[in-house]
Amino acid sequence: MEYVQFGKTGVSVSRLGFGGAAAGIKNYIHTYDPTTEESKKSVYEALETALELGVTYFDTAPAYGDGISETMFGEVLSGVDPKKIFLATKCGFTDYDGVLRSVEESLKRLRLPHLDLLQVHGGTYTDARVENLLCPNGMVEAMEQLKKDGVVRFIGFTSEDNNRSLYNLMDSGRFDMVQLCYNFIFQHPYEPSRPFGSLYEAEKNNLGIATMRAQTSGTFQRWMQMIRPDDSFDYNTALIQFVFSNPLVDVVLVGMRSAARVRQNVAIAEDLSGRVDIRQVHQRGLN
Ligand SMILES: NC(=O)c1ccc[n+]([C@@H]2O[C@H](COP(=O)([O-])OP(=O)(O)OC[C@H]3O[C@@H](n4cnc5c(N)ncnc54)[C@H](OP(=O)(O)O)[C@@H]3O)[C@@H](O)[C@H]2O)c1
Repeated sequence: MEYVQFGKTGVSVSRLGFGGAAAGIKNYIHTYDPTTEESKKSVYEALETALELGVTYFDTAPAYGDGISETMFGEVLSGVDPKKIFLATKCGFTDYDGVLRSVEESLKRLRLPHLDLLQVHGGTYTDARVENLLCPNGMVEAMEQLKKDGVVRFIGFTSEDNNRSLYNLMDSGRFDMVQLCYNFIFQHPYEPSRPFGSLYEAEKNNLGIATMRAQTSGTFQRWMQMIRPDDSFDYNTALIQFVFSNPLVDVVLVGMRSAARVRQNVAIAEDLSGRVDIRQVHQRGLN
């Protein structure tokens, strides 16, 4: 397993991150019911296998199945030496007191006294939303207070976007990391020919960088099925390796809910021969 220093946190984390959305959300990408005993057993085995194989970064959220993913993570991870894992959860858009309530509930479900990372569970950012997050007595102030109180070690935010408001949030200097949407078809976080994009902006601010949606949430594969229905090439591996190949990406989050998927993704993460020189992929012209 490869490990990397996670931006200004200074913490060493595994480059493969265990994404918790797939474990907790009903029918996430594929047909799936997180409430059955079979699903729970499968997710517990997935988490245990990830620990055995050296994955240290685990990402969940209250919104992943209304607390189901956090409860599953707590079942396995609360018994692990906290120095051996880096556990991240999130909090949806709310106010100062809403953050405190959300974290209290998360800690109960996770059965832990503190968190490594608390992220604003963002999506789209506008100037008004950023102003609201950063204002006195706002959400970020509550997150900073939790940091001072030792309840959370680091704070960050997640984003599907790539716009000026998002850059302003990164440039505010108030966060330790960011989780960005980045994959083969969602390129605007990284345009090396100019250079331009939120991955550069995050790196400039020395933020830890985690990514989501490496496998394009199935979009690329659906397109391939439309234009080449007989094609059986394993695009998932190639898409995950594409994100691993980006030198600015610290942690590649992949959704996992079975031990077999964990073994498969650990093998992908450890297969350095699958990495490409991403600047060559983006090359225009001969020089
Ligand atoms: N902050 C946010 O707003 C946000 C949004 C989206 C995601 N995320 C984070 O990012 C993580 C990843 O999310 P994602 O949307 O990108 O999910 P994903 O990795 O595309 O996972 C979805 C499904 O892909 C399948 N899969 C995983 N590895 C595979 C492989 N090597 N080959 C074939 N299929 C494979 C798994 O399904 P089966 O094993 O069941 O077949 C998994 O349930 C989330 O869990 C979450 O932690 C955050």
